[in-house]
Amino acid sequence: MGKTTLSINLAHAFARAGVKTLLVDADPQGSVGHSLVRQSRLLSGFYDWLANPDLALERLVVSTRLANFSLVACGRASEYDVGDGGTGSHLARVRGFLRGVAALGFELCLIDTAAGLFGITGDVVAACDAILVPQQAEPLGIRSVPKLLEELARLRITNPRLNMLGVCLSMVQADLAESRDVAVALGQLLPPAWLCQTQIPRDPLFLRASARGLPIGALAEGAAVQAVFDALRAELAAKLESHAAATTA
Ligand SMILES: Nc1ncnc2c1ncn2[C@@H]1O[C@H](COP(=O)(O)OP(=O)(O)O)[C@@H](O)[C@H]1O
Ligand SMILES: [Mg+2]
Repeated sequence: MGKTTLSINLAHAFARAGVKTLLVDADPQGSVGHSLVRQSRLLSGFYDWLANPDLALERLVVSTRLANFSLVACGRASEYDVGDGGTGSHLARVRGFLRGVAALGFELCLIDTAAGLFGITGDVVAACDAILVPQQAEPLGIRSVPKLLEELARLRITNPRLNMLGVCLSMVQADLAESRDVAVALGQLLPPAWLCQTQIPRDPLFLRASARGLPIGALAEGAAVQAVFDALRAELAAKLESHAAATTA
């Protein structure tokens, strides 16, 4: 839990920092759209593009009040329309989507997916440059982490240049020992570089922001939480840069 919330607010942080950012909703439940666009179900989006090779990508891009920040909704087609031939069956198409996004001048494409790494999510991860794994700071939640690491190792065979940006703890309650213990336990499960330094706190403002269809940084009272996403943005930008330097060296 916390994937969509993190995607929206992190994408907003990159856009505010001057990066031309596209946030794509690749979760068939379409929660980015629900959160940010009224009547998002009426918009064509990512799944329509997968289902229909003739659809022009620029027709799917929805602009927001922030000039650098655009969206692609999940769309009206479902996973069923697209057809799930198993992981790998949409890989070429997703790669085409990413090339199209770059051709439109976007510097960052952040894709919010459903949970798990199978089906279309697997193809998205296999086509991407980097992956960030939001993880709810809850003892039961981190039980799935070893399985996730195994699946990621498999995907890295298909996509050896995949940059693991790390696991980012979300809904952290720093005043609760149980929540702090999760961070320690997660640190023991992961290679040290894979645990993000920045943690997203549990905060009732997220509910208020999503009720109003806004990123938290767009709320007058959201500055403190926005600062956390700015810190996460800086942390990830540094990782993206050092990875780019290492792979072009
Ligand atoms: N850090 C947080 N603090 C408080 N509530 C949160 C936080 N992150 C997410 N939520 C709430 O939890 C619910 C699920 O979050 P969401 O980001 O949609 O999860 P996912 O996309 O992984 O299903 C939403 O109602 C959201 O407002
Ligand atoms: Mg979601």
